[in-house]
Amino acid sequence: MISSTMKIEIEKSKSSRLASTDFEHLEFGAVYSDHMFTVDFKDEEWKNPLILPFQNLSMSPATAALHYGQTIFEGLKAFRGNNNEILVFRPQAHCRRMNKSAERLCMPQISEELFMEGLHQLISIDHQWVPDMEGCSLYIRPMLYASDEFIRVKPSSNYKFIIFTSPVAKYYSGTVKVIVENKYVRAADGGIGFAKAGGNYAASLLPAKLAAEKGYQQILWTDAKEHKYIEESGTMNAMFLINDTLVTPALSSSILSGVTRDSIITIAKEWGVKVEERKISIDEIIEAHNNGSLKDAFGTGTAATITHISAISYNGNEIALPEISTRTLSTKIAQELSDIRLGKTEDRFNWVYKIQL
Ligand SMILES: Cc1ncc(COP(=O)(O)O)c(C=O)c1O
Repeated sequence: MISSTMKIEIEKSKSSRLASTDFEHLEFGAVYSDHMFTVDFKDEEWKNPLILPFQNLSMSPATAALHYGQTIFEGLKAFRGNNNEILVFRPQAHCRRMNKSAERLCMPQISEELFMEGLHQLISIDHQWVPDMEGCSLYIRPMLYASDEFIRVKPSSNYKFIIFTSPVAKYYSGTVKVIVENKYVRAADGGIGFAKAGGNYAASLLPAKLAAEKGYQQILWTDAKEHKYIEESGTMNAMFLINDTLVTPALSSSILSGVTRDSIITIAKEWGVKVEERKISIDEIIEAHNNGSLKDAFGTGTAATITHISAISYNGNEIALPEISTRTLSTKIAQELSDIRLGKTEDRFNWVYKIQL
């Protein structure tokens, strides 16, 4: 709970959009719940926490974030469990990651107390927006941006932190074909790739568009220096099963530390699976494919938990990966993770934050 001096003022929406929302045909990120949480950073402290009807922001064209990209965000989900409970998956881990992003972009820290209290009260008010259909959830988008009205390049003095939410349907559960990128980079060593900062996504748009034109839904990013080592798969972390070992690129300054990645590694280790976090070259993957030891490749992220990779294109050659039906370990881990998020199995890692209604 936040201190009594930080009581959240609440202005309820006069008319809910709930009844006019088509929950049967939800499109990712197209519909927003009735309310949002906002709080301002001013004179070196957080002030004026509010929950108010979801609405447009009014800002000066000189707002710093619009020019220099001093803006970060998070993405997490709430699910409807049994007994009318709302279950939020690992919100404290997302808060910690947001603060790492904030530190790198010279932005103020958000206390876990403030983050959790805003999130708790917002979701309590909009609890009816958490879908109860199988596979659906409430996507939660915390964001922080520089709000100085000043166009000199410098860290802003004022910031706005907002949380808003969006009911989302079951994510497309198909496979993806990926293309190894050896021209563009999304992030370089020493840059901001490990931060969930808007600029990283802007850098990925053109290469992603060019890849899509060639028939690939995702890019397999490689390191900025040599284009030799695998970094991430689109907006997901990448994992490979080589024989019986789960291998994933070690975290670095250019890789986002995925909460799903961490959750999958934790479950795999609990199950006695050998996990290696290390550099993986694209040559090693091709070699493993050629000698039959590459059993699986997949991306991990909040949106789809895991997305199997069906084919990898490298230097104009495409390799086809094993049939999805043979990929039992990743399928089992994804199911386990889904069961934990929905409260169907024991939350032995203390990942689920319950909002009792
Ligand atoms: C660049 C990038 N990598 C990895 C991930 C996966 O992170 P998480 O599992 O926390 O959703 C995401 C999604 O948030 C992402 O945008």
